[in-house]
Order: sequence, then C-alpha cells, then structure tokens
Amino acid sequence: MIQWFPGHMHSTRKAIAERLPEIDAVIELLDARLPGSSANPLLAELTAAKPKLKILNKQDLADPALTTLWLDHLRAQAQTQALALDAGEAAPAQKLIAACRALVPGRGGMVKPVRVMICGIPNVGKSTLINSLLGKRSAKTGDEPGITKTEQRLALASDFILFDTPGMLWPRLVVPEGGEHLAASGGIGRNAYDDVEVALALLARVRPRYADRLAARYKLADLAADSDEGLLSAVGRQRGGLLPGGRVNMQKAAEMAIHDFRSGAWGRITLETPDEFGQWRAAAEAADAQRQARRKAPKTPQRQQDAAKGDTPAG
Ligand code: G4P
Repeated sequence: MIQWFPGHMHSTRKAIAERLPEIDAVIELLDARLPGSSANPLLAELTAAKPKLKILNKQDLADPALTTLWLDHLRAQAQTQALALDAGEAAPAQKLIAACRALVPGRGGMVKPVRVMICGIPNVGKSTLINSLLGKRSAKTGDEPGITKTEQRLALASDFILFDTPGMLWPRLVVPEGGEHLAASGGIGRNAYDDVEVALALLARVRPRYADRLAARYKLADLAADSDEGLLSAVGRQRGGLLPGGRVNMQKAAEMAIHDFRSGAWGRITLETPDEFGQWRAAAEAADAQRQARRKAPKTPQRQQDAAKGDTPAG
C-alpha cells in the first residue's frame, strides 16, 4: 500500500474555506483515466453545499466508453454538471462557462457576475487548461507540476470570474487502489512509491479490460498464460530492459510500463469504473472503521498480552 504525506493541508483548507462564501460554483478537475482516485475528499467535504462542475480532463488519454459512464454517474449527483475536456479542445471557455451558468441560473450580468473556483490535484492539467482559457493572454504557470502559483483571478467573460485555488490541493490516499492509480498516472511524488510495485498493480488492473492492447504493444501471443511478473518481464524483454547475461531489469521494465501508460502507448485507457471505485472506497472505509473500533475497544487480557509483545495491529 502506498503511503504519501505531502505536507499539511491546513493552510489550503483555510484558504479555500475563506474564499468559499463569495464563490457560486466549484470546478473540480479530475483525471479522466482515474476520476474517482483523482478526486479530493477534502474538497468534497468543504464544498458540500456548492453547485459543482466536474471536468474529466485529459479525455484524449481515457477510454471514451468509460468516460461516458463516469459523466452519467457524476451528472446523477445533486447540483452537479460534468464535462470531458482535453488540451486539444478548441473552445474550452465556452463549454466551461455554459456548464457553470446552467448550475447557477440566478447569477449573471454585471451586478451578479458568476464567480467560480477551479481546483484539482497537481498534474491534472490545471495550468494547461487555464492557459487555454486565457487564449492569447498569458498566464503564469509553474515549471513543474505541483509548484504553487500565485493566486489568479481571471475574467473569462464580462460577468464571469474564475478564481484559481488558493494553495495546493494534494491528493489523499484514502483508497489503496486509488494510491496505485495516482502513482501510475504521475499524480503523486516520484519518491513515494516503488516503480515495480506500481507497474505490477497497473498491469494487473489493465489486463482484464485491455489485454489485446498489451498483447499488441509487447508482441505477446498468449497474455493469459503470464503472471503479472511474467508480463512485466515481457515488457522488459520487448523494450530492451535487459541486464548483462540476459536477465530482465525489472526496475527498467517497470519504468517503461508506467511511461507507456502515461504517454498513451497502450491506447486510451481508464483504470476504474464508478462501481469499482465505489466498492474500493466502501472496503477502505470499512477497514478504517474496524481500525478505529479496535483502537477504541477496551483491552482484553489477550490484547494486553499482545500489546506487551508488540503484536497489536497498528491503526
Ligand atoms: P497542473 O497545473 O494541474 O499541475 O498540470 P499541468 O497543466 O502542468 O499539466 C501536467 C501535464 O499534463 C503536462 O505534461 C501537460 O502537458 C499534460 N496535460 C495537460 N492537459 C492535458 C490533456 O488534456 N491531455 C494530455 N494528454 N496531457 C495533458 P508534462 O509532461 O508534465 O509537461 P509537458 O511535456 O507538456 O511540458
């Protein structure tokens, strides 16, 4: 299980909470390949009462059929609109403005301009989108994903103001599968995970739905015969990740598999459906509730003995 502690969210929480009273709707950018995992639970908590536009970004990399499934799922939620976008979209501002106006029909015009805040975890494509929303006008962007930019307030129309998130909205790894998906997509820091572990999880996730793509990319005749390790070895052999003596360099193979996924070399792939993510989240919440209950439960003599021996499960 991937653990990542990117620092405190307190200042971001405070900054968002302070800004919220003057915001009519909140836009959350999600990665269309992992819409559940790339959502931020803290944001959901903070903005529960606000109308929301969820944007499935980088749709060019995601499976179109599953993007439709996710859009339907999101649109079924209260006060929620959803859109799929990518950097190739010619007029993203028109789509985004229209979707936000539909969410807050009571606002608009110079006296009551529509005020929206745009949020998203690092690397989800927020700077790219803001740049294209601005068109020829320049916007400041960080050199690397995750670098805090100064807060921006952008007028996208005479009565439409877009506020960039104050502070960094880091992902939170509540669901173990979500941590793997965020790592595979580049949404969490490079040092927080093991490439081989993530590549194996990625291949295991992708092969049931997209076996033909993997077989084509790595010229494999019978994918079903291979274990996940066998599949990763095949990636290394096919892409030249070999050590002297012909052994597969599993680290190199893992880096290649992750790179191929990120760059779209496997075609358009989505890692999770709404149902799958719902099940993983329910399982993670149940496990968490169990841990909490164990922590609070009075110690039985057996548990005291276990604790003395250091056997108590860490919670
Ligand atoms: P951020 O502000 O949310 O941190 O993300 P940013 O816009 O910096 O985008 C992160 C990476 O995602 C960039 O790639 C960017 O080009 C890419 N990206 C953004 N939108 C899209 C999209 O709709 N489709 C695809 N396929 N990619 C997108 P990078 O490799 O980090 O940088 P670069 O090589 O583009 O310079």
